[in-house]
Amino acid sequence: MSADPKLAQGPLDQLDQWDDYVAGRYREGKDQSEFRQYDEQATPGVAEFYRLNHTHQTLDFVLAKEKEYCSLQRGKRTPWGALDYLNTLVDDSDPDTDLSQIEHLMQTSEAIRADGHPRWMVLAGFVHDLGKVLCLYGEPQWAVVGDTFPVGCAFSDQIVFHKYFDHNPDSKVPEYQTLHGIYEPNCGLEKVHMSWGHDEYIYHVTRDYLPEPAHYMLRYHSFYPAHRHGAYRHLMSAHDEKMFDWVHMFNPYDLYSKGAAKPDVKALRPYYEDLMAEFFPTELAW
Ligand SMILES: [Fe+2]
Ligand SMILES: [Fe+2]
Repeated sequence: MSADPKLAQGPLDQLDQWDDYVAGRYREGKDQSEFRQYDEQATPGVAEFYRLNHTHQTLDFVLAKEKEYCSLQRGKRTPWGALDYLNTLVDDSDPDTDLSQIEHLMQTSEAIRADGHPRWMVLAGFVHDLGKVLCLYGEPQWAVVGDTFPVGCAFSDQIVFHKYFDHNPDSKVPEYQTLHGIYEPNCGLEKVHMSWGHDEYIYHVTRDYLPEPAHYMLRYHSFYPAHRHGAYRHLMSAHDEKMFDWVHMFNPYDLYSKGAAKPDVKALRPYYEDLMAEFFPTELAW
């Protein structure tokens, strides 16, 4: 089934384009100078995507989305029902080369499983992008995917396409543009409002059922400015620093498992049904 184009509104041909862009940006062995090649000319769709993201992700916008979604009032779905629902986002114009959303999740989780990590981490890998159902609620791409960053304080120059923050209304609010902004030094990320997207949403959906390291993996997996570039340490607590070891451990599975062989979703389904039944209730509130 093709995605309704209205549901994935934005300059990216599909949401995967952002994931592919990030994977290319951090290709194993690639250095920082190559990283800078990713500009408007090389990736116009991605540049336009970030222009929109950096223009519209304000503190007020984030607070409104947290209010709208974090109390999980969107109804109940079985975990597998949510996967099937997410998979309706797949564009079937090129089914031979495009991985479905379930396949990306399963490649990530299978790579984690192959390395012998605990079952909760395999499950975290399997659900980490389920928050992209936000697109199916009609959220624009720039409010679903993309690198995440704190709002309500200065935007780090480690954030990709930083110059587009010139268009963000918060750039004109002096209180939000000091280093710490509305936060106390080293207050801990729990107190920090992150730009709205699929990370924060899946964290809220699953937080009651997974251990704390999984919370960090899910909630901050797109927080590249921090986990790849070391930005925002001044907001992180000692506990965050410790927990980011898990975020670092998780990231390569998300980025680099895509080249692996296509997983046999049908054959692996019983394993994942069991895994989800072990941790999740029959239905999750979304
Ligand atoms: Fe993601
Ligand atoms: Fe992912």
